Amino acid sequence: MSDHSNSRSVKVISHQLEVQHQAGEPLLLSLENAQINIQYHCREGYCGACRTRLIKGNVEYTTAPLAFIDDDEILPCCCEPATDIEISIE
Ligand code: FES
Repeated sequence: MSDHSNSRSVKVISHQLEVQHQAGEPLLLSLENAQINIQYHCREGYCGACRTRLIKGNVEYTTAPLAFIDDDEILPCCCEPATDIEISIE
């Protein structure tokens, strides 16, 4: 059973994987739960270590990101998908 209002599809293009994200937790956690090796340090949006390319869709930040990111980059440690998204992890 899936509740579409609480679950978003996260396609990780670089890993050819699709992960389900449950609302209420950082995107980083969903990626870790799927055994995706992603770098992180602060987990609070200021170090930039988790920087990830957003290919499609939108995210919303639970904490305003302080690290510098490009227009097509997101910080998975402090955001959640607002739509189904596609990302690429270097
Ligand atoms: S882990 Fe530091 S900005 Fe995401």
